[in-house]
Amino acid sequence: MNSLKKFPDKFIADLKAIINPRDFVTDEEKIKPSLTDWVGYADGKSSLMLTPRNTEEVSGILKLCSNYKIPIVPQGGNTGSVAGAIPNGEIILNMTKMNSIREINPNDYTVTVDAGCILEKIHELAIESNRFFPLSIGSQGTCTIGGNISTNAGGISVLKYGNMRDLVLGLEVVLPNGEIWNGLRRLRKDNTGYALKHIFMGAEGTLGIITAACLRLFPEITEKATAFASLRNLDSCVDLLELLRTEGGDSLSSYELIPDIGLDIAITYGEEIIEPLSKRYQWNVIIEFSGTKNDGAAKLNLENTLNTAIENGIILDAIIANSLKQANSIWKIRKAIVEYQPRLGGEIKHDVAVPISNVPEFIKEANDAVRRVIPDIRPVAYGHIGDGNIHYNVCPPLEYDHVSFKEKTEEIHKAVYDIAFKFGGSFAAEHGVGVVKKNEMLRYKSETEINLMKLIKISIDPNQIMNPGKVLENKKY
Ligand code: FAD
Ligand code: MLT
Ligand code: ZN
Repeated sequence: MNSLKKFPDKFIADLKAIINPRDFVTDEEKIKPSLTDWVGYADGKSSLMLTPRNTEEVSGILKLCSNYKIPIVPQGGNTGSVAGAIPNGEIILNMTKMNSIREINPNDYTVTVDAGCILEKIHELAIESNRFFPLSIGSQGTCTIGGNISTNAGGISVLKYGNMRDLVLGLEVVLPNGEIWNGLRRLRKDNTGYALKHIFMGAEGTLGIITAACLRLFPEITEKATAFASLRNLDSCVDLLELLRTEGGDSLSSYELIPDIGLDIAITYGEEIIEPLSKRYQWNVIIEFSGTKNDGAAKLNLENTLNTAIENGIILDAIIANSLKQANSIWKIRKAIVEYQPRLGGEIKHDVAVPISNVPEFIKEANDAVRRVIPDIRPVAYGHIGDGNIHYNVCPPLEYDHVSFKEKTEEIHKAVYDIAFKFGGSFAAEHGVGVVKKNEMLRYKSETEINLMKLIKISIDPNQIMNPGKVLENKKY
């Protein structure tokens, strides 16, 4: 209990009156997993974690924290890629116990859920009603809907269905002063003043606690065709996307770049991954067509389109999966890059977006720029290029000293982000800002944007109790 000494006795007593003792966590072992992030950016600290079970409890906690000016850090599945959910001494408000399904309305194509629901649970629930929820990301077995909304998560289906922001119809939010805003509307059209829900989406927990959301559902996907294709060269990725869009129309659901070095990582370290083509090529893509009819049309369409791409010299070779097992093996290549890339002696990560037509130029210029910093550096540029979103991560040269590599981080970040900026791009495409990209906020955002953000922050959270030190600097505005 000593660890709670920094808080006023009355505050702790009042908290205990709101929340059940089992949801008032001070056990260091139980708090420990919430203090570090999977990338390894943060080494956090906190002596208290609260795990509320309903909106009223969240409201009571926030009201108290506001009154006492005691800051909190919202946390979902703690899978975020920019250390936005890691506390630096603050109370953790972990939302994972708020995980009920409130209602599903198949005819309206909507589902309303608590914010702590795991994403994969929503996938399963939708299928039970012959519906489909499209957000698809590698962490879906652990991340929560509240975290997905707060980071405006992206993933591999954005080119067809949009980001998380596009999948949300309504929100319930507890404001920093404890007030509950019930904006859980199931409407597709609602032009009644400012679109408040959008302020909380992508805010990374700095404006309030999202306690529930009404999500859009889609017709169930009953057919998928997955291909692995080798590009003639990097420039061909734009031509191929154009062809896939023209021929595939709405069937095109994923388009992911896989560089040779990424395939190498997957084959070397991954499990149950089969070499997809008989020969290795420098640039490859994973393509997915999907449909709702289960009549073989998606596969046929993909096959015909890839034949045209070969005839036109856009791609050199391709394979379409003939079984679910083969399709899974192709997708495992993509997942393995994320998991095993650190084995190449560490990585410096960038989650960049540029206009789609600039993807090849961006990668080429970024390669030149990082090689000017460390000549034999190994770029691993992969990801959601159907959205212009490149995970431009770099690994050190073979046998390179780990400490010297890390010392170059800022120089490499600037080299990469300057090029993205030149193309009108973003330094944070889908992962957010967290604590990791606050310098870039100041470097690349205009003063007008930063000032507007500060105005919003101070209006909604005047006591600055919500996730301090994340996204914007923590100071009085
Ligand atoms: P957390 O990490 O717990 O929190 C993220 C942020 O949201 C923090 O700032 C936190 O304070 C805030 N927050 C959480 N819950 C709430 C709430 N209820 N109310 C207010 N604020 C809240 N991301 C992508 O976009 N695309 C990908 O393809 C992708 N792939 C990934 C693959 C792997 C293997 C991993 C580990 C991560 C990946 N991510 C990806 C990153 C991550 O999974 C997403 O950012 C996800 O949306 C975070 O959800 P979470 O519940 O884990 O949130
Ligand atoms: C992915 O697309 O697999 C992830 O966004 C990668 C990451 O989080 O670094
Ligand atoms: Zn991604």
